[in-house]
Amino acid sequence: MKIDILTLFPNMFDGFLSESIVKRAIENKKVSINAHNIRDYSKDKHKKVDDTPYGGGAGMVLMCQPIFDAVDSLKSPKSRVILMTPQGVPYNQKMASSLSKSEHLILICGHYEGFDERIRSIADMEISIGDYVLTGGELPAMIVTDSVVRLVDGVIDSESHQNDSFSDDLLDYPTYTKPQNYKGMEVPDVLVSGNHKEIEKWRQTEKIIKTLERRPDLIKHKKGYLITKDNKTGEILSVEFNKIDGFEVTPKNDARREDIISVNKMVIVKPSFAEKVIKLKVDKKMRNLYDKFNYLLTTDDEDSTAAVLDEAVRYRGFIIKNYADFMGTKYRDTILKKLGIIINELNIKMNLIYEIKESELSGKTR
Ligand code: ADE
Repeated sequence: MKIDILTLFPNMFDGFLSESIVKRAIENKKVSINAHNIRDYSKDKHKKVDDTPYGGGAGMVLMCQPIFDAVDSLKSPKSRVILMTPQGVPYNQKMASSLSKSEHLILICGHYEGFDERIRSIADMEISIGDYVLTGGELPAMIVTDSVVRLVDGVIDSESHQNDSFSDDLLDYPTYTKPQNYKGMEVPDVLVSGNHKEIEKWRQTEKIIKTLERRPDLIKHKKGYLITKDNKTGEILSVEFNKIDGFEVTPKNDARREDIISVNKMVIVKPSFAEKVIKLKVDKKMRNLYDKFNYLLTTDDEDSTAAVLDEAVRYRGFIIKNYADFMGTKYRDTILKKLGIIINELNIKMNLIYEIKESELSGKTR
């Protein structure tokens, strides 16, 4: 793969191209990456690359000529020309994966106050790396290059990115290394059990738990998951996003063939799985809250009571916001009721603590 970067600041890429995995990929001839100075393509005798905006306004605008000529001289029929701009399509892992299969990328870094709108006409694609404005497209071009290069065949062990966060629309599972106990924090038993089947199962479950907890949006709005289970044991073997194409549905009773919408757009949901995973998580948290609550029965400490009260209130909010859609109604109502009781009891306790404090204060002033 070849990546050409058009920039006014080619030196910014020196460090980036001469370290770590990108450096190794270049040395091993997996990629060839060149940062070209847009100024070198200017036909102006002073090598001018920008000018004031028509209609007035602040700042300078990158001109068409140097960029059109640079792209013209680098481009081949297999090239994909990409403009880095905050107005582009939000970048994600799927785009990285698709770009990593290209033969040639030309990344154009905008700079200063912007670029002439007509430059858009030579780009096949516009990419934004997030909803914020940087001083130029150089850092975004590095981000795109880095995320693409690591996916190019032979750059890193393919197993390393098969489990990447987002590769299957799920966040990655937690990883640990030595020591097994660090400051009282233990590595989960299953990871040191040596049982690879159990480890795989744990990792798959953790991915879903993490995604539900931190990025429920990745799961909620997607079409569906194909969950493969072992028929005998009921054990979950794999969870794959959107691998549901091609399923046939046989209409039942008097349903007609025309009543069926395209199977590819159908949603296959396994609510029982999400429910099971969440239940494990919620039960653990509730046990922890109960332990804290029980401890509070032995003390009138204001700070600890306030902290547990705050935790319970926040956890109730968290459940309503993130888990409610994935919990059975009965279970959800029970948990919310239990949390309600804890919150209520702790509010009463806080009032008592305040009353005791006040009466102690007024006792002192009397
Ligand atoms: N140039 C300036 N800000 C940018 C962003 N957020 N994404 C891509 N290119 C940019």
